Parts: sequence; structure tokens; C-alpha cells
Amino acid sequence: MKILVIGGGGREHALCWKLAGEGHELFCAPGNPGIAEVAVCNQIKINDRKGLLDWAKEVQAELVVVGPEDPLISGMADMFRENGFLVFGPGQDAARLEGSKAFSKDMMKRAGVPTARHQVFSDPGAAKEFAAQLCASDEGVVIKASGAALGKGVVVCDDFEHAEIVIEEMLVGGIMGDAGRTIVVEERLRGKEFSLLTLVSRSQIRSLPVAQDYKRIGDGDTGLNTGGMGSYSPVNWVSDDLVAQVEEEVVKPILASLAELDIDFRGVLFSGLMLVGEHPYCLEYNVRFGDPEIQTIVSRLGDGFAEALLACAKGEAIPEISVQNNAACTVVVASGGYPGEYEKGNKISVKSVPDSVTHFHAGTANSGGDLVTAGGRVIAVCGVGSDLESAREHAYAGVDGVSFSGKQFRSDIAK
Ligand SMILES: Nc1ncnc2c1ncn2[C@@H]1O[C@H](COP(=O)(O)OP(=O)(O)OP(=O)(O)O)[C@@H](O)[C@H]1O
Ligand SMILES: [Mg+2]
Repeated sequence: MKILVIGGGGREHALCWKLAGEGHELFCAPGNPGIAEVAVCNQIKINDRKGLLDWAKEVQAELVVVGPEDPLISGMADMFRENGFLVFGPGQDAARLEGSKAFSKDMMKRAGVPTARHQVFSDPGAAKEFAAQLCASDEGVVIKASGAALGKGVVVCDDFEHAEIVIEEMLVGGIMGDAGRTIVVEERLRGKEFSLLTLVSRSQIRSLPVAQDYKRIGDGDTGLNTGGMGSYSPVNWVSDDLVAQVEEEVVKPILASLAELDIDFRGVLFSGLMLVGEHPYCLEYNVRFGDPEIQTIVSRLGDGFAEALLACAKGEAIPEISVQNNAACTVVVASGGYPGEYEKGNKISVKSVPDSVTHFHAGTANSGGDLVTAGGRVIAVCGVGSDLESAREHAYAGVDGVSFSGKQFRSDIAK
């Protein structure tokens, strides 16, 4: 099958690597130097809708997979569908689950999905009043910019004084721009976080193996939040029963509520969860594969991934995907300074690696024949093994083989 993947980061490299490995012919725009090893890349800008559509026609793509959230939120899947393509990725309506936290929370409430108590505000006075109310019964409160804010729009506040400042900054100061003109003020939950990625074909679902991710930059979960610094799978504390419970309480009800509004979901639903006592609460939905969770997940899947994505695109029953009896660990190698300011254009050298290690490129580029850094997260190194310990060893051996000036990574992934 000819498959066109839209995007050019670590997630898209993992998708192309897996799909090419199943014997399909891969095309990717804009791609990156790592993706170019497994797919034909064409550096069309992601906002060049016409250019992407023309190329999809030219290569006669039989399946289009839209990777990142931004194009999904702005309706790229709809554009391809309207032009007769089979697309894995929700349309603009369904992508509001990620693009608008106000919409998402209201849908959760309507669907009866367990989630933190909340209200939506654009008036600072009313927002502060509700925040004060929540702070009176618990320590802290969470303030969220409603719009897509590159993972920087959520602030967990320890007390009302902090919440007041954040509300003021977002609603009056406008520091999040339009994304923060509407905010969600919600109850602060405490528990252990995990996420579940579920393939969705209308009302039919199939969850992928659970992978635990690491959001903070520093060892021991310290320092600033990032796009994700590593992941591993399997996760022993998330049982099959818990996954089934999340499917029943968090995934199926939201899809049913979307269906009531005539919204059809064909893609992947990422449920961000917190286990409070024994009860899973939904913190958020995303509408794309998690990065770097998907690098770990595809390294554990057997055959049938492409067929499953195609079935979702068609709205048909999703065939089973086998899962190998192995473990995988992904460690992100990032630029010095990330998630703050960082240098670009530093020369990267990558030593050749055994089969148990894969380098998924995220922020890399070619410059005058050299591979150079081009983003905060540079390469996600995934190791596989018969158990987590060996997967971890392989991943870190692969990390050692990557060098560039300013290289940083967490040393405690899957520890
Ligand atoms: N109600 C809550 N109680 C406690 N912590 C919360 C709550 N809501 C969010 N958080 C914390 O904030 C983080 C980010 O929240 P959320 O996932 O909604 O934001 P996001 O910016 O959309 O994240 P992502 O980039 O993963 O999509 C969560 O992973 C969690 O650690
Ligand atoms: Mg999100």
C-alpha cells in the first residue's frame, strides 16, 4: 500500500519506520533526514495545503496519516477526505477535543467521564472567585488556557495567590495570546499519571500497549516540563483490568457523545489519565499519537499496524494487532538549554547500532552534507529487549553513540 504520512518529527519517523517495516511504500512531507531512510520525503511546508494535496494525488496515496495536532485542529484530515482520500486522523470537529480544553471538558461532563470539577471563564473576576472556592476545600487549583498552547498552557497552582496571578496573566495580560482568552479553572487531583492510546474507527476501538512517559527535563522528575523526555512499555502497574475500565469509562462515552453531535472519529484518541486511589480520572484528550510514547509502542507491535490504520480510515472494524513479548525503552536526546533557549545547527555524529536499537529523528536536518541539530528534542533512541532492563541497557548504549555539542538526556528512564 502507498502511505503518505504528514509531519516531520520523532512521531512521524516512528510511524514511517513501522509501516515501511511491514512492507508498505512510504511517502512523508516534510519528513526529516531520519525519515528519508525509510520513506520518500518531500519538503512541502505543513501549511501548504495545496502542495500536500497535489503530492498525495501525484503519488496516488492509498492512505494518508496526519501526524501532528496542529494540522488536525485546523482541518487537514477533512481536506484530504473531501478530495477522496482515505485518512487516518480526526476531522476538525473531533480534533476540538484537543484544540479546545473548554469544549473537551464540557464534552467530558456531558458524557459522564470522570474528570476534575471545572468551570470555563473569560472574565477574570468570576474565574478568581471559582479558584478561591476550589482552594478553600483543597490545596491548590489548576488553570488551563483553553486553546492549543504547545504544552505550555497548563499551570498547577499550589495556592490561591499563585492562581490569581496566572488568571490575571492569561485573561488580562494575554501572555498565552488567543489560546488563553478563555480558560478552564479546575480542581487539582493527586495521583499517578498514565496515558492510553486507542485506535478509533467510529464507535469501534482498539487500545495499544500502555507506555509510561516522562514530562520533566530533569532526573527524578525535576525541572521544567518538556514535550517528553522518554518512555517505556510494558508498565506493570497499569493492569489489563484498568485499561478495560478506562475504555468503558473514558473512551467509549466520549465517542458516544461525539456521535450524538454527528461527529465521526477516525484516528487515535490519546486519553491523559490520573489514577486517584483506584479510580482513573481523565485529565485531557489528545487526538494524535504521543511522542515519545509511539516510538516505544511501535517497537513492541507485531504485524497488522497498517491494516489497523486503514480500517480506521475506512470506518471499518479494526483488526487485531499482535504485541510482541518484549519490552521497549525510549530515551530522548535533547539540545542543551531545552526546553528553554537552545542552539541549532550543531553537527551530530551517530555511531552504527545493533538491531536492538533504533534512532528516531525528531529535530535534525541536513546542512552541507552534515547531520545537524534543528530542534529541542533531537533524536529519540529506542532500545528493545526481552525485559525492561535489557531494553533500557540497549537504549542507553544507543544514547552513548549519539554525540553533538550540548547534548542532554535523562538518565533515569525506565529505572
Ligand atoms: N486537574 C489536574 N490536577 C492535577 N494535575 C493536573 C490536572 N490537570 C492537569 N494536570 C497536570 O498538568 C499536566 C498537563 O495538563 P494537560 O495534559 O491538560 O495539558 P496539555 O498542555 O494539553 O498537555 P500535553 O502537551 O500532554 O497535551 C498533566 O500532565 C498533569 O501533570
Ligand atoms: Mg493536550
